[in-house]
Amino acid sequence: MGLLGLSSFSRASSSSMVAYVILVLGLVLNGALPCNGGQTSLFVRKVEKTIDMPLDSDVFRVPPGYNAPQQVHITQGDHVGKGVIVSWVTVDEPGSSKVLYWSENGKQKKQAEGKFTTYRFFNYTSGYIHHCTIRNLEFNTKYYYVVGIGHTERTFWFLTPPEVGPDVPYTFGLIGDLGQSFDSNRTLTHYELNPQKGQAVLFVGDLSYADNYPNHDNVRWDTWGRFVERSVAYQPWIWTAGNHEIDFAPEIGETKPFKPYSKRYHVPYKASGSTAPFWYSIKRASAYIIVLSSYSAYGKYTPQYKWLEDELPKVNRSETPWLIVLMHSPWYNSYNYHYMEGETMRVMYEPWFVQYKVDVVFAGHVHAYERSERVSNVAYNIVNGKCIPVKDQSAPVYITIGDGGNLEGLATNMTEPQPAYSAYREASFGHAIFDIKNRTHAYYSWHRNQDGYAVEADTMWFFNRHWHQLDDSTSS
Ligand SMILES: *[C@@H]1O[C@H](CO)[C@@H](O)[C@H](O)[C@H]1NC(C)=O
Ligand SMILES: *[C@@H]1O[C@H](CO)[C@@H](O)[C@H](O)[C@H]1NC(C)=O
Ligand SMILES: *[C@@H]1O[C@H](CO)[C@@H](O)[C@H](O)[C@H]1NC(C)=O
Ligand SMILES: *[C@@H]1O[C@H](CO)[C@@H](O)[C@H](O)[C@H]1NC(C)=O
Ligand SMILES: *[C@@H]1O[C@H](CO)[C@@H](O)[C@H](O)[C@H]1NC(C)=O
Ligand SMILES: [Fe+2]
Repeated sequence: MGLLGLSSFSRASSSSMVAYVILVLGLVLNGALPCNGGQTSLFVRKVEKTIDMPLDSDVFRVPPGYNAPQQVHITQGDHVGKGVIVSWVTVDEPGSSKVLYWSENGKQKKQAEGKFTTYRFFNYTSGYIHHCTIRNLEFNTKYYYVVGIGHTERTFWFLTPPEVGPDVPYTFGLIGDLGQSFDSNRTLTHYELNPQKGQAVLFVGDLSYADNYPNHDNVRWDTWGRFVERSVAYQPWIWTAGNHEIDFAPEIGETKPFKPYSKRYHVPYKASGSTAPFWYSIKRASAYIIVLSSYSAYGKYTPQYKWLEDELPKVNRSETPWLIVLMHSPWYNSYNYHYMEGETMRVMYEPWFVQYKVDVVFAGHVHAYERSERVSNVAYNIVNGKCIPVKDQSAPVYITIGDGGNLEGLATNMTEPQPAYSAYREASFGHAIFDIKNRTHAYYSWHRNQDGYAVEADTMWFFNRHWHQLDDSTSS
């Protein structure tokens, strides 16, 4: 405990160092807090209320020009990374759903035809929401693309990932529960200015928090789309659905779950044989990413269960060594918020995660940060009483990264004592980076918003569970 505390102290920002030293020394000297598990960081931050940025904020500005495309965002558009889904909204008239694109070195401009849709939610009417899938791109290539053809054209660019292969390095950003508060803006800025440049974001759910407004004011879906455009128009964000995407509001006649989210955020679910956009998989560089839905049926015989049962054996670790799972509600969470909400899904799927040696599971939902040891809890059978998580080198590390900064504020109340499965926990906003080096090693770091852009508040070298199944715990 003492050593860990001091090593993370040495990287902490200067403003809070003194208080931190006193706290850490206090713990080391008198051992006042019970400490069965890892580290509970007592990092001291300024406690301000988390409030949403007002509608006239700079980040919500509507781009100038007649029918200018806004809320531009991209995500992977196929199973292997040669496709991109480009989405945007126009408000004056539908305009064109075409995307014009060309590679940096190529002269030939190509175009792809998309479609647009609209929806109503209580008394809100959406703009024209366009989705256009570009296919058969070259790997590892910079492409420019234009939307708004015929009216106000806007140009963006993205890099396609390298071809799928076992030793391809790739850097993922991790953001969850972002919302649109001043803290959300800090998180996004810290992600953008992190010197370890993320190439794609794994987003673990809860996007706009529009549903916290009266009548789920969907204008806040539009402002969120404009806010994050500065990142997601240039690199894909891989979407996971959270509870704030459900938008179930029978009191105002809205009984179809996930309506605004499904209209606005398309994902390539059919490419992985899924029958719904809430669970799907992609390959990207050396990673195989499985996205699950905490808010769709997952019990035995359900579509999600059958899909996952068929999906896991398809993962070829010689091709994609890194098996990453995204979901919204965490299975291992030692905060007093959403405690045990992920339990029923854990009971259903955890034996598979151990069997197929998932490397890491990222979840959100709890507005704080936590990293687990490699543990499993799969021995219980109703009568044997074996219901305590145990260290398991075939089990994933579980990371809760729901600390994007939304208006609901931080989760600060933790279960005590810290359970043995919890390696590190801290109630601060931030983001993380998962930096795959090769088939055996990935470097993981968590960055809190109070620190300088390069500061790493929690780190771990991940050893791949298929190729290098050694103990990679930071506390042993
Ligand atoms: C929707 O209804 C609410 C509450 O009645 C009202 O405040 C708001 O102005 C209405 N919005 C539109 C676009 O009509
Ligand atoms: C959001 O962050 C950006 C980049 O740091 C900054 O330019 C902008 O003024 C911020 N906006 C608000 C409303 O905080
Ligand atoms: C797994 O991937 C490797 C490397 O791409 C390939 O050689 C092998 O045939 C694949 N195995 C299966 C069962 O598809
Ligand atoms: C923390 O959560 C526990 C369990 O829900 C509750 O009993 C306790 O009052 C909470 N403490 C604070 C300071 O909110
Ligand atoms: C994989 O990356 C790690 C960390 O950078 C390095 O120590 C190791 O030598 C690499 N393995 C191979 C086979 O290159
Ligand atoms: Fe949530």
